[in-house]
Amino acid sequence: MSWLRTHTCGELDVKNKGEEVVLNGWISTRRDLGGLIFIDLRDRYGITQIVFDESNKTLHEQAEYLRPEFVIGVEGRVLERTKATVNPDMNTGEIEVEVTGLNVYSKAQTPPFEIKDDITTNEEVRLRYRYLDLRRPAIQNNLLLRSRVYHTIRNFYHGRQFAEVETPFLMRSTPEGARDYLVPSRVNAGRFFALPQSPQTYKQLLMVSGFDRYFQIVKCFRDEDLRSDRQPEFTQVDVEMSFINEDVIYDTHEQLMAELWKTHLGTDVTIPFPRLTYHEAITTYGSDKPDLRFEVPISDLSEIVAGSGFKIFQSTVEKGGRVVAITIPGQGSLGRGALDRLTEKAKSQTGAGGMIFMKITDGEITCSVGKFLEEETMRQMAEKAGAGEGDLVLILAGPVPDVYQQMGSLRLIAGSDFQLIDTSKAKFLWVTDFPLFEWSREDLRYYSLHHPFTSPRPEDLHLLDHSPEKVNARAYDLVLNGNEIGGGSMRIHDTELQQKVFGILGIDEEEAENKFGFLLNAFRFGAPPHGGIALGLDRIIMLMAGAQSLRDVIAFPKNQKAQSLMDNSPDVVDEHQLKELHIALRKTVVQ
Ligand code: AMO
Repeated sequence: MSWLRTHTCGELDVKNKGEEVVLNGWISTRRDLGGLIFIDLRDRYGITQIVFDESNKTLHEQAEYLRPEFVIGVEGRVLERTKATVNPDMNTGEIEVEVTGLNVYSKAQTPPFEIKDDITTNEEVRLRYRYLDLRRPAIQNNLLLRSRVYHTIRNFYHGRQFAEVETPFLMRSTPEGARDYLVPSRVNAGRFFALPQSPQTYKQLLMVSGFDRYFQIVKCFRDEDLRSDRQPEFTQVDVEMSFINEDVIYDTHEQLMAELWKTHLGTDVTIPFPRLTYHEAITTYGSDKPDLRFEVPISDLSEIVAGSGFKIFQSTVEKGGRVVAITIPGQGSLGRGALDRLTEKAKSQTGAGGMIFMKITDGEITCSVGKFLEEETMRQMAEKAGAGEGDLVLILAGPVPDVYQQMGSLRLIAGSDFQLIDTSKAKFLWVTDFPLFEWSREDLRYYSLHHPFTSPRPEDLHLLDHSPEKVNARAYDLVLNGNEIGGGSMRIHDTELQQKVFGILGIDEEEAENKFGFLLNAFRFGAPPHGGIALGLDRIIMLMAGAQSLRDVIAFPKNQKAQSLMDNSPDVVDEHQLKELHIALRKTVVQ
């Protein structure tokens, strides 16, 4: 007979009652009740209960040897379950299949962890046996969501005249702020390709070539310190457009997000998204990727406390620093112990030297440094912080920008500790007008905040020569619930301006010609004004799936040490291979 399945394991219901069917799949669980052996048969579509009845002695005996994760085919008849045994939680919970034929495709060793969703197995083990981890429905569903999202994204761009173009993986290094993964060339001794940190230069060249609207779902590689929202290889939805301005990028990508959320999560996303300048985001939320699922804005008390006589406040303001506050609604009755713990957290997790608090209870304002402050000053502070009866005000004093960053972290700690965050919400926003450069106190030089191809705002061009740090960029980030899910900019399309920006970055003409000559030359042959964006697809899927880590939405991810535990890479290679690549390892490298 043919063991080709007639149905998947997630498909059968009472409508199929009486039908002869063939199912294929993995054994999920096996329950031996003596006369009856029940097996939950699993495939990516679901689980179907199959039953071996002792009336068929041969089959029943064979079933006694079946174990979890064996791969089998069964033929059988669909039976309606009795009322008492119906499982309303399963699609197939109203039926079972009485087995009339069995084919064991392969046996399985006992897996190192049970293949089910709620396991506590440590992640190292799960990553080592990733192919088993990927059998777990939760992870499988994340990847299936990912697959559907690819489909929507491709349709979305194709429907808007974007051309999907592949760009090389073996390329000259493009600066995006991380280290490159290098690939040695065998045929060009001593020379190296870099794996793309992003296809930035290629997509700009495609604009010079007239492609006008480009997109690509593309792997990018960055050798950087890893966190739960970073992988050394990750996927971008990379986009570039000609003859546009920022609004076209905003509008297009708001529509894309709305479509993704509607199609795959059934949620209506409100567009257009709010926009905050970088400066507003930092001074109001202490972050360039603010989580807007809760309000709690930062207020600036500096003017009020500057002349208060309290030394910490006064000297901070005198030195150009700020005294800033957030108000936690309804937490004014928090006890001493809880406040001490919060202060400790603020100190250890935000880098703040200390935290001052103020409470408003029964119409009275108390403050941890109250003995140094006039009552009127405290009243004004509370008013500025928007605090009313029953509220708690947290105050930090320090230099700029540190105090904003610290308050931003404290805001997030408070948001999570006091459950202020509505986790059912999707709060998108654009953060715009980033500074073009940042000054490195360590290296005593400017770096691009985004990348060196980002256009300055035209109204700031005159500042390039004498105050580059004051120049704002035509750059923007897309932020969702406190995560940076995309970033882009309008580009420079003029050779001279590009050279000038390279100059400020300490890249002299010779080096610029050497590294980016191809791009500068291209601009000399007629470059359209253009701009684009890259979305962090892994992060978007992680947030859509409600997953905690990028690793849960990538089929074969790396661990925190940038290793793949499953195939044990990176690994040493043999001497012969190195020799062919003209590479000798330093003696200090442990082989
Ligand atoms: P950027 O460097 O901001 O821009 O990257 C775009 C988006 O990619 C995601 N991302 C990452 N995701 C996972 N792991 C990583 N290591 C990682 N690094 C970045 C983020 C980020 O917002 N060429 C420009 C885009 C442009 O200007 O068009 C670029 O790559 O979500």
